[in-house]
Amino acid sequence: MVIAQISDPHVSAAGGKFDRLLATTEHLTRAVAHLNALRPRPDVVLLTGDLVEHGRPDEYRRLREVLAPLAMPLFVIPGNHDDRANLVRAFDHHAYLPRDGGFLQYTVEEWPVRLVALDTLVPGESGGRLCADRLAWLDARLGEAPGRPTLVFMHHPPFATRILAMDAMGLEDPRALAAVLRRHPHVEAVACGHIHRTIVHRFAGTVAAVCPSTAHQVALDLPPERRLAVVMEPPACLLHVGPDGDAGLVTHVSPIDDSHPPFVVYDGERWLADAKPPPGFRR
Ligand SMILES: [Fe+2]
Ligand SMILES: [Fe+2]
Repeated sequence: MVIAQISDPHVSAAGGKFDRLLATTEHLTRAVAHLNALRPRPDVVLLTGDLVEHGRPDEYRRLREVLAPLAMPLFVIPGNHDDRANLVRAFDHHAYLPRDGGFLQYTVEEWPVRLVALDTLVPGESGGRLCADRLAWLDARLGEAPGRPTLVFMHHPPFATRILAMDAMGLEDPRALAAVLRRHPHVEAVACGHIHRTIVHRFAGTVAAVCPSTAHQVALDLPPERRLAVVMEPPACLLHVGPDGDAGLVTHVSPIDDSHPPFVVYDGERWLADAKPPPGFRR
C-alpha cells in the first residue's frame, strides 16, 4: 500500500495576498499533477490540514476545484486555519466526513493499513488540542483492531520541534496522546502537518513525521532564534509505503519538482557503463 500525504496548501481567494506572495493555489495544482504521475500510483492521498487560509466558503470552493483532477481517494482533516462547518459543506461529496457538527474524526477501513483521522482544531486558536473526548474516541477506535497496522493522522505534531515560533502554537499536552498510543503498539506512524517542514521524531513507541507544505516552507531557525520566516524551499509530499511481511511502514520524501529527469545507471541486471544522461539532466 502506498499512502501519499500532502499538507498545508493554504488555498486563498483568487487574486488575494497568498496568490500574489506565495502562489499557494498554483503550488497545489502542481502537487495534484505530481501525485497523479507517481508510479506506482498511491492508493490514497491524505491532506493534513490548513486546507485554506481563512476557512471561508469561497476558498473551499476553489480548493475543491484544484483537487478535482486527483485520481485517487482523498481524505482530509482540518488544521488551525480551517473551519469545520465550511469544510464539510464544501466537501459534501466526501461521505466519510462526520456531519453531526462535532469533531472531524473518522477511520478508513478499506486498505491493508487502517487510517485513523484526528481533529486537533480549536476554533480561533493557532495551537491544537486533543481533549478528553477526542482521545477517548481514539482509544476506542484503536482498541477495535489491535492486529491491524494503523496510521494516525492529525494536523498539529505531538512534539516540540525546537523551531520556537512554531512550538508556541503546538499541540497542548502531547503526553495525554502518548499515554493512549502506548496502549496500542500497532500504530505504525503518526502523520502530521502544520510545521511546513519535513521532521521525524520518536514518539510514544511509534514514529511521528511531519509533512512539508505543498507551497511555502518554514525556514529552519533553531534556538536561540525566535523569528518565524517562510522560505520557498522545494515543496514535497510524503509516501508512507508498506507494510511488507513483518516490516512496517517506510516513509519517503517525494519532492514536487518534475524538472529533474532520472538518469538510469543500472537497468536491474547490469550497470550501464556508457549510459548518457537524458535531456534536461542537471548536474
Ligand atoms: Fe500551515
Ligand atoms: Fe497549521
